[in-house]
Amino acid sequence: MTPLFSLLFDTLDARLKLRGPSRKVANKVFPHNWSFLLGEVALFSLVVLVATGIFLTMFYRPSTEATVYNGSYELYRGAQLPAAFESILRLSHDIPGGLLFRRIHRGASHLFIAASVLHMLRILLTGAFRRPREINYHLGIGLITFAFVAGFTGYSLPYDSLAGTGIRIAYSELLSLPLIGDRVAFWIFGGDFPTGDVIPRFFVFHVLVVPGLIIGMVSLHLALVARQRHTQFPVRGVDGHKFILGKPLWPAQFAESATLVLWISGLLTAAAVFIPWSDVALLGPYVPGEVGNNAQPDWFMFWIDGALRIFPPLEFSVFSLLTVSGPFVAGIVLPGFVFTALAAYPFLERKVYGLRGDWHVLTNPLEIPLRAGFMLGIWSFVLLLSAAATNDILSRLTGVSIENVLWFFRITCVLVPPLLGLAINRYAKRRLARHNRTVAGSEQEAQVAAASTEVLAGSKPKQPASG
Ligand code: HEM
Repeated sequence: MTPLFSLLFDTLDARLKLRGPSRKVANKVFPHNWSFLLGEVALFSLVVLVATGIFLTMFYRPSTEATVYNGSYELYRGAQLPAAFESILRLSHDIPGGLLFRRIHRGASHLFIAASVLHMLRILLTGAFRRPREINYHLGIGLITFAFVAGFTGYSLPYDSLAGTGIRIAYSELLSLPLIGDRVAFWIFGGDFPTGDVIPRFFVFHVLVVPGLIIGMVSLHLALVARQRHTQFPVRGVDGHKFILGKPLWPAQFAESATLVLWISGLLTAAAVFIPWSDVALLGPYVPGEVGNNAQPDWFMFWIDGALRIFPPLEFSVFSLLTVSGPFVAGIVLPGFVFTALAAYPFLERKVYGLRGDWHVLTNPLEIPLRAGFMLGIWSFVLLLSAAATNDILSRLTGVSIENVLWFFRITCVLVPPLLGLAINRYAKRRLARHNRTVAGSEQEAQVAAASTEVLAGSKPKQPASG
C-alpha cells in the first residue's frame, strides 16, 4: 500500500474499525473461469450507462411540442420539430461531444442487455440457479425484464420515426389486454395515441424509475452473491461443495476487473468514434399515422416483434365476457409464457431429479437431460421468433412471397423447438447411460484386479459387483 493510501486507511480504521471486515472482503475468492466475467461486463456497462445518461439528460427535452430547430444541420434548419427530436438533433450536431455520448450510451445499452442475456444463459446451462441461489436467480429474471423496459423506453425517447412506430405498437398491445386494456393504456399514455404525455412519462420511467429499480436490484443481487459465495466448475481432487479454487478479490480479481473496465470503456468509445450509427437525422421525426417500411425494433425485442408478425389475426370472445386477440396472445401471453417457464425451471429440475440440499458445483447441461432439452427448446423458440421479425427482409432477399415466409415461420416455430428439445434430451440420456456403463465397467475391472491381486497373494477372492 502506498503511504498515502495506508495513512488514509489507518485514519478511517481508527474511527470506523474497518480492518477486520475489509480483510474478509479482500480475501473473498473468485473462481477462475471467463464465464464469470459476463456478470461483471453487465455491471460495468450499467455504470457507463448511468454516467453517460446523466450527461444526455442535461440536454434532452422530454416533450412532443413543436419547436423550431435553429442548429447547424442544414436539412432541418428553420423546421418545426417535436421538442424531443429537436433536442436529439441538437445533441448530435450542435453540442460538443453530444454525439459521442449518445453513441456510447446506446452502445453500452446493447452491451448491458447482451451481457445480461449471456450471463443468464451461463446460469441456466450450468445450473447455478440451484438451491441456495434460487432467490438470486429470480431476482435476475426481474433484472432482465427491467433491462428490456429500460431499452424500450430509451429507444422511444428520440421520437424519430422508428421510436414512434414502437410506441404505437406498445399502445396497441396495452389496448389488447382483455377487460382492462383501455384503462391501462389511458393510465400510461394519458389519452388516445398519440398523446403529448407519453414522452414525458417514458422519460420519468427511463431516467428515474427503471434505473432506480435496476440499481437497487443489482445491489441486492451482488450482496447475495457475496453472502452465498460463488459456484464453481468441477475441479479434479477438490470438493467444490466445501472449497473454492480461485483468486482473492484483492489484488488479483481487482486487477482483472479494473482491466475489464478499461477494455469496456475503450471499446465502447472506439465504437462510438468509428461506427457511424444512431443518426436520427436520417430517420426524421415521427409523423403520426406514418409507418416506415423498414421499421425494426432493437435486436432484443425481435422475438416479440416476430411473434406479432407471424401470429394469425385471431379474435375470439371467452364466455362473452372478454375478448382475446392475436396481438394479446403474441405480444403478452407468449413472452409471459417464456418468462414463466424460465422462472419455474429450477423447481421443475429439483422435483424431477429429487434434488436435496445445497449445490455449489456447476454441471454440464448434457449431464442433466431435462435441462438440455428445456434449454434448447426454449432458446430455439426465441431465436426462431427473432428470425421471423426479419420476414420482410428475407422475402426481399429470397424472392419468396411474404405470406410464404410467414407460413414457414409459423410451422417451424411450432415444430422445431420441441423436436430439437426432444432430440438433445434423448442424446443426453444415451450419453449418460454410456457414461454410467463405462464407470460401472471400470469399477468392475478395478474389483476384478483387486480380487486377482488377493488370489495371487493367497487370500479368498471377493465377488466383483454385477454390471
Ligand atoms: C441485469 C444485470 C445483471 C448484473 C449486473 C449481474 C451481475 C452479476 C455478477 C457481477 C455476478 C457475480 C459473477 C458471476 O457469478 O457471474 C452475478 C452472479 C449471479 N447472477 Fe447475475 N447479474 C445480472 C443479471 C442476472 C440474471 C438475468 C440472472 C438470471 C436470471 C442472474 C443470476 C445470477 C446468479 C444465480 C448468480 C450467482 C452465480 C454463481 O454463483 O455462479 N443475474 N451476477
